[in-house]
Amino acid sequence: MATGSLLPVLLALLGALLRGAGSASTSVRPQEAIIPRGGSMNVTCLATCDQNATLGLETLLTKKLVSNGSNWVTYELSGIQEDSTPICFSNCGDSQTGASISLSVYSFPEYVELAPLPQWQPVGENFTLHCKVKGGAPRSNLSVVLLRGKEVLDRWPVKGHPAEVTTTELARREDHGANFSCRTELDLRTQSLGLLQNSSATRQLQTFVLPEIGLHLATPRIMEVGTQSPVNCTLGGLFPASEAQVFLALEDQRLEPTVKYGNDSLCATALVRVNAGEEGIQQLKCTVTLGNRSRSTRETVTIYSFPAPNLTLSESEVPEGTMVTVECNAHPGAVVMLNGSLAGTLGSSARFTLNASEEHNGSNFSCSAVLEVDGIKLYKNKTQKLLVHYGPRLDESDCPRNWTLQEGSQQTLKCLARGNPTPQVKCHRIGDKALLSIGVQKTVKRNISGTYNCQASGYHGVVTCKVVVNVNYHDQNNNMVIIIVVAAAVFLVTVSTAVYLYNRQRKIREYKLQKAQEACNIKLNTPNTPP
Ligand SMILES: *[C@@H]1O[C@H](CO)[C@@H](O)[C@H](O)[C@H]1NC(C)=O
Ligand SMILES: *[C@@H]1O[C@H](CO)[C@@H](O)[C@H](O)[C@H]1NC(C)=O
Ligand SMILES: *[C@@H]1O[C@H](CO)[C@@H](O)[C@H](O)[C@H]1NC(C)=O
Ligand SMILES: *[C@@H]1O[C@H](CO)[C@@H](O)[C@H](O)[C@H]1NC(C)=O
Ligand SMILES: *[C@@H]1O[C@H](CO)[C@@H](O)[C@H](O)[C@H]1NC(C)=O
Ligand SMILES: *[C@@H]1O[C@H](CO)[C@@H](O)[C@H](O)[C@H]1NC(C)=O
Ligand SMILES: *[C@@H]1O[C@H](CO)[C@@H](O)[C@H](O)[C@H]1NC(C)=O
Ligand SMILES: *[C@@H]1O[C@H](CO)[C@@H](O)[C@H](O)[C@H]1NC(C)=O
Ligand SMILES: *[C@@H]1O[C@H](CO)[C@@H](O)[C@H](O)[C@H]1NC(C)=O
Ligand SMILES: *[C@@H]1O[C@H](CO)[C@@H](O)[C@H](O)[C@H]1NC(C)=O
Ligand SMILES: *[C@@H]1O[C@H](CO)[C@@H](O)[C@H](O)[C@H]1NC(C)=O
Ligand SMILES: *[C@@H]1O[C@H](CO)[C@@H](O)[C@H](O)[C@H]1NC(C)=O
Repeated sequence: MATGSLLPVLLALLGALLRGAGSASTSVRPQEAIIPRGGSMNVTCLATCDQNATLGLETLLTKKLVSNGSNWVTYELSGIQEDSTPICFSNCGDSQTGASISLSVYSFPEYVELAPLPQWQPVGENFTLHCKVKGGAPRSNLSVVLLRGKEVLDRWPVKGHPAEVTTTELARREDHGANFSCRTELDLRTQSLGLLQNSSATRQLQTFVLPEIGLHLATPRIMEVGTQSPVNCTLGGLFPASEAQVFLALEDQRLEPTVKYGNDSLCATALVRVNAGEEGIQQLKCTVTLGNRSRSTRETVTIYSFPAPNLTLSESEVPEGTMVTVECNAHPGAVVMLNGSLAGTLGSSARFTLNASEEHNGSNFSCSAVLEVDGIKLYKNKTQKLLVHYGPRLDESDCPRNWTLQEGSQQTLKCLARGNPTPQVKCHRIGDKALLSIGVQKTVKRNISGTYNCQASGYHGVVTCKVVVNVNYHDQNNNMVIIIVVAAAVFLVTVSTAVYLYNRQRKIREYKLQKAQEACNIKLNTPNTPP
């Protein structure tokens, strides 16, 4: 205060001028003041007196004489903790007068604190903002403001020690990640000290939406031991979806899902592998946790074991005539069908015996087992092949006994023998043992005709049969014979015709002669005596 040193002097002069009035009085500069708590200030007491007055300051505060002069004195007050009203007094002769100073103390709050917010706040539910303010003065000019970011939500005067202010807010999606705080405002603008603010630390709010319904678990109803299949757990309408946690477990076995997050949804997929020994009804559980809440759903999965039936042939490769037993054994509880026919007593095993014959060779025996799990029919099949050794057989149908062939034609001579293993067939001509080519296309020559001994060798030894090959042909000699025959025939016909015609002519002539002789009465006694 620049005026601090000048003012007392001026006032002393004023006092000297008024001395003549004979009236004594006391004044103080300044009359009122506001200072920070614990601060110091100078106060000057002035006396109006026609003599040298005695001046003093009555206060409990620590005071120190700074300077004095005629009828004025300046004290420094220090360590001012509270509002107080020190009194300046002066004794002017017999009269004592006084003047009080109004000293106000201001102070910032010791602390301003926003109580912790719920870590996760469901959207659409109320939450409270609770602000605590300790200290601060003057209280009449102290207020507390609750803020979301920079937006003022509420304003309250500060009352009580410590002061507590509470307000209720409805959580919104937009509030996710918002910073809440409270702030004190000490309004000393009338004292030209301005608006003095103190803020609490900010508290960030996390809001979330976790729908009550809609959690869906997709899983196969049944699962076979030793297999794996995917299961899905999905939920929509989540906010913020990416913060949600998924827990998937099959009974006690925790699964490791891969979670795909959408804007407001999630889909967790895990591969479930079921092992032997886990047969039975098991619970698959999916739990989605967001914030401090969670939703769960369960599905039952029936785990079954169903190995393929065991289909056995007493022997898989047998000579014909052997009794073979076909047997099928399935998992208990399953029903087997052996070669299409339901097992007699709807049992899990079936068998039959057969006399192995040619037609059984290469045939497949199949056993189909059916097991019903949770209303679903499951099939497992097994097939086995039977090989029967038989033959050789040289039937006329496979190897004709008579071949009549045209010379020069293209022919494939077929002589097959049946049997397992496939028999070898060889045909040798009786006499010269010439080999007949079988199974290949050949031009027929006349020299292949003859009777052959065909021999098939196979599993059960050797069988033979006779095959006759005739080759038809027509050569020059043949033609000559025909020509000669035809020529002879033509000649004979010609000669015969000639002879006939001659005889007929002669007879006619004889008749005419006879007639003529009769007409002429000429008697011929002997016809054989010509004239
Ligand atoms: C009071 O006045 C004295 C002398 O002028 C000065 O040294 C001191 O700093 C003043 N005190 C205050 C609190 O202004
Ligand atoms: C007041 O005191 C001063 C010295 O302290 C002295 O010079 C002056 O004469 C006194 N005044 C009166 C009226 O006594
Ligand atoms: C100032 O104060 C001192 C000590 O109290 C005193 O001796 C002196 O006379 C005073 N001066 C005036 C002008 O009052
Ligand atoms: C939230 O609080 C307000 C009053 O502050 C009340 O009107 C409203 O019903 C409350 N809402 C809920 C969901 O509790
Ligand atoms: C407090 O503020 C009011 C105005 O808001 C003002 O009139 C009053 O003087 C102030 N009090 C103090 C002690 O500053
Ligand atoms: C809230 O504060 C944190 C750190 O203090 C900051 O990262 C974040 O962006 C703030 N949120 C908003 C909505 O301003
Ligand atoms: C209050 O704010 C003032 C400045 O406005 C600062 O000097 C003071 O240390 C603050 N008090 C607290 C408790 O933060
Ligand atoms: C799981 O989801 C994937 C892709 O979303 C789908 O291909 C698969 O079929 C689903 N699995 C089940 C068991 O629903
Ligand atoms: C997700 O949200 C973003 C921004 O809001 C939008 O552009 C995008 O299309 C949304 N995606 C889906 C799958 O809804
Ligand atoms: C099938 O045979 C295997 C090995 O001999 C045996 O371990 C299994 O139990 C049998 N399965 C059935 C259904 O009988
Ligand atoms: C097994 O056999 C059953 C009945 O014979 C049939 O319906 C099913 O398709 C077969 N399954 C397989 C895999 O061959
Ligand atoms: C088979 O040959 C015999 C002579 O060996 C013959 O009598 C018979 O007619 C022939 N049969 C056929 C159908 O060719």
